[in-house]
Amino acid sequence: MAKKVKRIGVLTSGGDSSGMNPCIRAVVRTAIYHGLEVYGIRHGYQGLIDDDIKKMNTRSVSNIISRGGTILKTARCLEFKKKSVRKRGIANLEKHKIDGLVVIGGDGSFRGAEALYEEGGIKIIGLPGTIDNDIAGTDFTIGYDTAMNVAMEAIDKIRDTAASHDRIFFVEAMGRNAGALALSAGISAGAEEVLVPEVPTDIDALAKKLENGIKKGKTSSIVVVAEGDDAGNAFVVAKKVEEKTGLKSRVSVLGNMQRGGSPTAFERMLASRLGLAAVEGLLAGRSGVMAGLVAGKIKFSKIKKSSTAKKKISKELLNLDKILSI
Ligand code: F6P
Repeated sequence: MAKKVKRIGVLTSGGDSSGMNPCIRAVVRTAIYHGLEVYGIRHGYQGLIDDDIKKMNTRSVSNIISRGGTILKTARCLEFKKKSVRKRGIANLEKHKIDGLVVIGGDGSFRGAEALYEEGGIKIIGLPGTIDNDIAGTDFTIGYDTAMNVAMEAIDKIRDTAASHDRIFFVEAMGRNAGALALSAGISAGAEEVLVPEVPTDIDALAKKLENGIKKGKTSSIVVVAEGDDAGNAFVVAKKVEEKTGLKSRVSVLGNMQRGGSPTAFERMLASRLGLAAVEGLLAGRSGVMAGLVAGKIKFSKIKKSSTAKKKISKELLNLDKILSI
């Protein structure tokens, strides 16, 4: 029988997302509840190679459930792509006798986790943490719901000023190459159009739609542009539309504010459930997997799949947006 884990490490890696803190809290408290020792690794893989590793206790995670960001800090550690560098990380885990690791992050962080699992024989469980909701094997990533709410509230505010001035606004949402965040924020804020990278953008059709809206009595419009859209960023799209229609507009780039803020109740629940699942998964002998939420239930899937397979954008939501934005 495989040896049971006794001492686990936890790290957050890649772009921070709201919900990472309640997830760390769940990992730490579940580990202690089950009699394990738990170590926090600061600044993601950078801290792993620099040996920035500290023992945690139940009090280390007091009062963080409502806080955005990550108390463990995070980083995008490009160096970790090198095997020789990963070796240092593995040596540090061995030095602290850490035999199980929980990695909270996005697909890039999972590629690092997968390599550690394959090269170091470390038991690893990944938890999806990113505002982009672009990870296969889970319906929701930790951070997505809060970011969607933050973006929606920002767009609501933009709507107030757009309506007062009879203006068109192009609002850029984050999401890297995925349109999930832009789409859900756009639908929930009642945007006139959402442009996502997964669907080729037709500038002529967009220009016509905005002009038709004016003919039908619309005095203001909001177009949400996902940052990875094929037509370009929000400034470029606004310029292209102006060239076709003569319509003047304003551009707002939401940017990194979408990663901050207190996690929503849904986020805290998701993060807490996944944190517990990771620790109990390690105790049950699972490794090389990611815990996700699928149709309301915790499901484990191969971390390799989550780091490579691209999550598809929801056709249902694309259709919902098309119908409700007429
Ligand atoms: O992956 C999360 C994310 O916020 C993306 O939506 C965005 O493209 C990227 O990170 C921005 O990263 P940074 O803040 O490091 O520039």
